[in-house]
Amino acid sequence: MTARHFSDFRPVVTRQRDINTTPAWARLHQHQRATRHMHMKELFEQDPTRFERFSVRLDGMLFDYSKNRVTDRTMELLFDLAHVADLSGWMRKMRQGELINVSEGRAVLHTALRLPPGAKLEVNGRDLAGDVHAVLARLRDFTDAVRGGAWKGFTGKAITDVVNLGIGGSDLGPLVVAEALAPYRKRDLRVHFVSNVDGQQIARTLESLSPETTLFVIASKSFSTPETLLNAGAARRWFLSAGRESDIARHFVAVSTNEPAVRKFGIDPANMFEFWDWVGGRYSVWSAIGLPVMLAIGFDAFRGLLDGAHRMDEHFFCAPFEKNIPVIMALLGVWYNTFYRAHTHAIMPYDHGLRRLPAHIQQLDMESNGKRVGRHGERLDFDTGPVIWGEEGVNSQHAFFQLLHQGTRLVPSDFIVPMNSHYPLEDQHKVLVANCFAQTEALMRGKTEAEVMRELTDVSGDRLDVLLPQKLFPGNQPSNTLALDRVTPQTLGMLLAAYEHKVFVQGVIWGINSFDQWGVEYGKQLASRILPELSGASGFGHDCSTEGLIRHFLVHHDA
Ligand code: F6P
Repeated sequence: MTARHFSDFRPVVTRQRDINTTPAWARLHQHQRATRHMHMKELFEQDPTRFERFSVRLDGMLFDYSKNRVTDRTMELLFDLAHVADLSGWMRKMRQGELINVSEGRAVLHTALRLPPGAKLEVNGRDLAGDVHAVLARLRDFTDAVRGGAWKGFTGKAITDVVNLGIGGSDLGPLVVAEALAPYRKRDLRVHFVSNVDGQQIARTLESLSPETTLFVIASKSFSTPETLLNAGAARRWFLSAGRESDIARHFVAVSTNEPAVRKFGIDPANMFEFWDWVGGRYSVWSAIGLPVMLAIGFDAFRGLLDGAHRMDEHFFCAPFEKNIPVIMALLGVWYNTFYRAHTHAIMPYDHGLRRLPAHIQQLDMESNGKRVGRHGERLDFDTGPVIWGEEGVNSQHAFFQLLHQGTRLVPSDFIVPMNSHYPLEDQHKVLVANCFAQTEALMRGKTEAEVMRELTDVSGDRLDVLLPQKLFPGNQPSNTLALDRVTPQTLGMLLAAYEHKVFVQGVIWGINSFDQWGVEYGKQLASRILPELSGASGFGHDCSTEGLIRHFLVHHDA
């Protein structure tokens, strides 16, 4: 089970013309200047078919993008830009396993993880789909054994709690999916996620657990992430307070691409589930990293998640751009980030189970496209990845929506809402959905002076002058609505895959390698220098603020 490299592939390094020097780019700038005062409300008044024309349906998903500052001409210009960036070519390269992650010399093949059983994907003479399905078969056996009670803890009891120890992509993807699909979970098997090196998270998680019935999944692609390894060490000490070294095999499994490091840590490779360097951490929930999800909802439901994602892959690779959900999502994002300089993009799930989705998409998008240079190292002279943020509705309405409605900033957003709930609280579900739809309507329409005046018939004079402007809503705030029939493994798989492809398309347009993350490294390097200084080692010559903070710690820390 060694990690494979496709070293005899040639990286894709052909340099294209800088996108911002193309006529397609210039035309979009010109179009933005010409249409920036256009109000969406008028576009709806002029065209009663706008919803039908600016929405796409795919199986259990409706993507409504009619509430955007776009016309047919805008979309035409954006599609032109995608062609100029050779989007189809890049999609083909990704799908076929070319080394499009040029800085790391890797292929980008998370789509291979969700190929259906029996599919083949030959890359460099090897059937990767076969490798994927072989690991999935092991995962199925393991999942069935744990869920069925055949896999016993060291005192002969069945496992009741699974603790996933991982961070970033080795945490957020499975955490979001396990939460979102909670209605499918096995009730007597609880899944917990510990990511932070802050010891309070693991300490508090373990407080209510028993070593006899707890299974730890150490999830780390590299198996070298200090946060995860420290938590794994703490878990092991906690376990050894009750069990013996020889019992560890029944309570610790690893998910990684790095077998030597797993072995060194003391986990038998028989208890390791492999994935590959062509799977990026933030794209890895579809691999063995999804193990906690499998344990929670069962392998068949997890297969449903993979099938949903595969459905979106097929749609993405095959549908024309004009009907292609991820392509349209991406181009709208380019329109606002780059041509409107919108800076941020909000994600609002109107589904409590999806409340951590903004965090997952935040990592997916910002770690992928938070780049200032292109894939050839050239500086990019335009805005790229936005700040992604968000919170579940309706709570967010009572927190930050004020700024969306009446603040000074353009904030494009995605509203995600299921048409059906898993819970039999019909009245509450309707209120939830009504709020979601109402917000997108209000953000789009705004409220005019005439409308406010109709509400203020009993106010006049100075008071009216003060009140009127405060009650106006400019509107014209763009949003997409992604309506799922219900949050099921399939629709969730489609949704997550749509965001992955959106990020990829934007990277292609901006000329970015979306699959490395060098920017994360620097903070890690500095932290490892500071760590010994917190125990009194002499300093490295920091700035006076950092030095002051280190001294402050040394004085106030009760060692
Ligand atoms: O935050 C950087 C990062 O490398 C992410 O890309 C990754 O998901 C995370 O750390 C965890 O890495 P690993 O799975 O190797 O422990």
